[in-house]
Amino acid sequence: DTAVALAKEVGPAFKDGFWRKGQFASADDFAAEGKQGNAADCVTAVDCHIEKVLFSRLREIYPHHKFVGEETTAECGEVAITNDPTWIVDPVDGTNNFVHHFHFTGVSISLAINKEPVVGVIYLPILDELYTGVRGQGSFLNGQRLPLFNPPTLTTPTSLSQCMLVSEHGSSHDETMHSRMRSLTRLLLAKEHGGAGLESLRFAGAATSDMSLVAKGIAEIHWEIGLHAWDIAAASVIVTESGGAVFDGAGWWGSDMAESEREPRPLNIWNRKIVSVRYIPDLPGQPGSGRELQRRLARELLTHVEDIPCSPDGLH
Ligand code: IPD
Repeated sequence: DTAVALAKEVGPAFKDGFWRKGQFASADDFAAEGKQGNAADCVTAVDCHIEKVLFSRLREIYPHHKFVGEETTAECGEVAITNDPTWIVDPVDGTNNFVHHFHFTGVSISLAINKEPVVGVIYLPILDELYTGVRGQGSFLNGQRLPLFNPPTLTTPTSLSQCMLVSEHGSSHDETMHSRMRSLTRLLLAKEHGGAGLESLRFAGAATSDMSLVAKGIAEIHWEIGLHAWDIAAASVIVTESGGAVFDGAGWWGSDMAESEREPRPLNIWNRKIVSVRYIPDLPGQPGSGRELQRRLARELLTHVEDIPCSPDGLH
């Protein structure tokens, strides 16, 4: 409830910034300065304002909690992650979209306990979409339970050729871009090498919005290497609580997965590699087949992508 109230509280500042009105009307607020000289990884006055508001409100309510935010981390450098309740915030995910008035952009607020996200709230103010998820209690879009579609509308894909992948080229415009693009091309052309080949690929420019497409049941898979914990913490709760599965590079997480099916450790949102697969209904008469298909699709995807090295992001 606190996270929802705060996301709504910062909504007007977000919208004013997006439409350049009110206190954010000055062009200087949108100088969209590139972090460490990288224009693709930008920050505006709105990012900093929203992060400051969120952290000051959260500190008043939970003085003993810890805080990790995209902009604060960029300023402070190293941040040690503990098992304490920790709020992980991205004030404007998809800042590049925000600067271009491209509406897939929003606020992401998550609470992690023992390093694992248990609450996730994503607010996409321009689309008026509020996603909420609490570990063990399901996830919702504007109060409607996710996924939005159920069988028979929600199909049971058995290969990548029936899947829409959402991904991004990421904000690290460096040599690793070749590996990212080669990986995506391989996925699209996998058919030529005896594989299935993706049905389609989409880039929307914000990890939160990409993962919300998986939670809704619209896109089958999301894959990106190089994301930070603040990009995916809230979304990982919303996806898993919608019946989706998240693979963190070493193991699986899904809300109702039997103990034997998932890694005996928390979902690792810190290692910058993530694959999410939407809820897949079981095949008729085959209980558990939906979960098996989620893994099969992710495994198939991972055989075609390169293991791209990520530079340290200061969280450890
Ligand atoms: C970025 C977005 C983008 C992803 C980048 C992220 P930011 O977040 O989520 O989709 O490709 O890797 O850094 O920096 O705009 O909050």
